[in-house]
Amino acid sequence: MKRKKIVAGNWKMNKTFQEGIQLADAIVTQMPLTDVTVILGTPAIHLKEVGNRVKYFSGIHIAAQNCHAEKRGAFTGEISTEMIDSIGAEYVIIGHSERREYFQETNDLLAKKVDAVLKQGLIPIFCCGESLEIREKNKHKKYVKKQLQEGLFHLKAKKFSKVVIAYEPIWAIGTGVTASPEQAQEMHKFIRKQVADQYSKKVADKTSILYGGSVKPANAKELFGQADVDGGLVGGASLKANDFIEIISAF
Ligand code: PGA
Repeated sequence: MKRKKIVAGNWKMNKTFQEGIQLADAIVTQMPLTDVTVILGTPAIHLKEVGNRVKYFSGIHIAAQNCHAEKRGAFTGEISTEMIDSIGAEYVIIGHSERREYFQETNDLLAKKVDAVLKQGLIPIFCCGESLEIREKNKHKKYVKKQLQEGLFHLKAKKFSKVVIAYEPIWAIGTGVTASPEQAQEMHKFIRKQVADQYSKKVADKTSILYGGSVKPANAKELFGQADVDGGLVGGASLKANDFIEIISAF
């Protein structure tokens, strides 16, 4: 089964507008010929112009890093799926561990955000993953299963089949510690099995599951070489064009 290979950059709250445009231009200039779907998850302010810079590259797409669950209204400071759609972004990162932790985003709220994203015709990149504490107690599978059940598994198969999943163990995010290829594969296989049990093997085989957490040029090839790892959600290394391009080329 051929699944979409994806490398998504998550710029988080980094880069001024001007720096962001420079980065996007540098990525475009060095972009290799590839069948990898490349996604730039930029700050909301940068999205439209980064979108303009990449629009002639059919393999490069843009993503918002968050959205509100409501379509519009009195929610000062928030960004809706309708707005994200209106500037040409196609993806929205949902439930990143930083959103869950610092902005108290619960599985219930994330389920609503997933619905809003799909209703708008956009694609959610749904993040899941455990903390070090949970892993040390050997509860990581149970924990991730609950995140999937409560955040995604309310969807009907047809809608679910649009979703991209990102497994990001919190202990590997921004720490320089990467899950070993075996640890990543074990969790990705587990996640795919949950999808197969909930929907079908056919749906599971088509779902792209990305690994996130200190992906860098030095480890990308080995991670992407795992049977159930379909790409990466890349934070720190997506802020340097050379590193990001090397990661794309690692497939
Ligand atoms: P990192 O971040 O690559 O800097 O560890 C990944 C992420 O948070 O998506």
